[in-house]
Amino acid sequence: MKNIYSNIYSFNKRVLQKTVKILKDAELVGLPTETVYGLAGNAYSKKALKKIFLLKKRPKKNPLILHYYNFKRASNDVVLNKDFYKLYKKFCPGPLTFVLKKKRTSKIESHAAANLDTVAVRFPSHKVVRSILRNLNFPLAMPSANISSRLSPVNAIDVYNEFKNKLKIIVNGGRSKIGIESTVIDLSKTPNLLRPGIIGLPEIKKIVKKVSTSSKNVKLKAPGMMKRHYSPGIPVIIGKKPKNLKDALIVFGRKYENKDNYFNLSKKGNLKEAASNLYITMRKIKENGFKRIFVAKIPKQGPGIAINDRLKRASK
Ligand code: TXA
Ligand code: MG
Repeated sequence: MKNIYSNIYSFNKRVLQKTVKILKDAELVGLPTETVYGLAGNAYSKKALKKIFLLKKRPKKNPLILHYYNFKRASNDVVLNKDFYKLYKKFCPGPLTFVLKKKRTSKIESHAAANLDTVAVRFPSHKVVRSILRNLNFPLAMPSANISSRLSPVNAIDVYNEFKNKLKIIVNGGRSKIGIESTVIDLSKTPNLLRPGIIGLPEIKKIVKKVSTSSKNVKLKAPGMMKRHYSPGIPVIIGKKPKNLKDALIVFGRKYENKDNYFNLSKKGNLKEAASNLYITMRKIKENGFKRIFVAKIPKQGPGIAINDRLKRASK
């Protein structure tokens, strides 16, 4: 069960019990989800939330996403509306986050939502995190398990490299299949897409007719999304060609040959596959000692919209 990383565990009944106990004691754990790995703590505990912000070096004004087992449990804390139910039915559990009005009777610690009157909620589908959520009587505040502004982790070892032994448990749930963070949609007023993800605007529009993507609101509502984000720790340059072999080039599709400094997100030209390879590839490039990351054109459609969004933020 244990391996050379003394705090990475594969999942079983004993680890479930241990994880639940740690969370009840207001300590933090690293957990797998289908999007990226999260740094989880009790969303009703001020102590746990303080630790999340501290460990991640996260600005206090950047609100967290709360994770629930199902909508019934979330209804204790947030106001669910018609659009929510329609989208929930179609996409949940899964990689979609809803910003909703916080109930006055909610037990959510005000720190979690950065003192806003709205809260972001998500219902992850990964079976490990679902089985943990089912055994808790509080939601999990769970930002991506990385130091603020860095790349989100998609493997248990990525989480270890970020926080080392500061976490008692990192549950290994395999590689996150989706590989980029959830889509965030604000339903607390006229629906507004705040963060693109694997579930795109066209899929959402099939269910909720009027959805805006106005960036004015994004600035106000999601401060964490405006700054430099998703940075691999070396410069990311879009739209230019590499100068030498110390520069890596991220490419997409069949037309690129195999070169030592070329990293293909999907040879088949599949954008979903490309999204799932994005962070892994950027980490690999950095680990292999390249000094800069250049990026060739990636189509701005489907999951390509989210890929381009993350690359643009990484390049800031
Ligand atoms: O896929 C994911 O969503 C992952 C996994 C672990 O679930 N979590 C994640 O959390 O990406 P984080 O904290 O890295 O991103 C949360 C995003 C931020 O951009 C934040 O600004 C936005 O959600 N957010 C949270 N609460 C909000 C609110 N009340 N209004 C608007 N945006 C909010
Ligand atoms: Mg994050």
